[in-house]
Amino acid sequence: MSGEFAGRAALITGAASGIGLAVARRLARAGASVVVADYDEDAAQLAAGELETAGARAEALVVDVTEPDSVREAVRFTTETFGSLDLAVNNAGVAGPSMPTGEYEVTAWDRIIATNLGGVFHGLRYQLPVMSAAGRGAIVNVASVLGGNGFAGSPACAAAEHGVVGLTKTAALEYADQGVRINAVGPGFIDTPLLRGTDRATRERLISLHPQGRLGTADEVAELTAFLLSERASFIQGSYHLVDGGYSAR
Ligand SMILES: NC(=O)c1ccc[n+]([C@@H]2O[C@H](COP(=O)([O-])OP(=O)(O)OC[C@H]3O[C@@H](n4cnc5c(N)ncnc54)[C@H](O)[C@@H]3O)[C@@H](O)[C@H]2O)c1
Repeated sequence: MSGEFAGRAALITGAASGIGLAVARRLARAGASVVVADYDEDAAQLAAGELETAGARAEALVVDVTEPDSVREAVRFTTETFGSLDLAVNNAGVAGPSMPTGEYEVTAWDRIIATNLGGVFHGLRYQLPVMSAAGRGAIVNVASVLGGNGFAGSPACAAAEHGVVGLTKTAALEYADQGVRINAVGPGFIDTPLLRGTDRATRERLISLHPQGRLGTADEVAELTAFLLSERASFIQGSYHLVDGGYSAR
């Protein structure tokens, strides 16, 4: 395929749904070959099939980002299947219950930290050696507005997303002189399956937190992510970019 990412191989975690799926579609449309890495096998197959039907090269791969070996295998699979690893989006994440820190479920804390923060670390841990050896690569870590703000009732997500921002800056410092760019995006609340199950009152409250008066779309996050991965962002390194309808401007 022709396009901005022609000849580039992309590994996207959590690519079977929501933001990850929108990123997969956006990169594939611009010519990238895509590994749709997700622990939901059926959804990953469906997503990869859709990308192939649209003319892209795509492979579904079952990955659990909380397991280092699984992420290492995803990196190996990408380079073996497509010949390189040029672009990576560490996006897989989960939501949790809403309760104050003093009452927070310890199991929910462990699951969110292991996925939303641990998953990004595992991605970087195995993507960076491959990219630095090649002397080029671009990575986007999907954080959240909770990477720069507290959010009452979501201590685990806020801690994990702040962690993703710190990890992004650190890795960016370490690999800047090796041709690898690493940045993070901070979406506001985005209308994806992650928010499914949110009752109407909560949804209205979330909408009211955004000065634009609506939730964001996965495509809006994908657009920023694609920009940061592209050569157009060649001097952007180690920074955290909001896509939040004004949420953080207050
Ligand atoms: N939706 C929002 O409001 C919002 C806001 C800010 C940040 N985010 C972040 O964006 C990312 C994507 O969220 P989304 O809204 O698209 O959610 P989503 O639920 O639509 O998609 C998440 C995907 O990640 C996969 N996944 C979850 N745990 C996994 C694991 N251990 N290994 C592999 N795959 C796993 C799921 O199967 C799913 O396909 C998450 O990291 C989330 O924290 C979401």
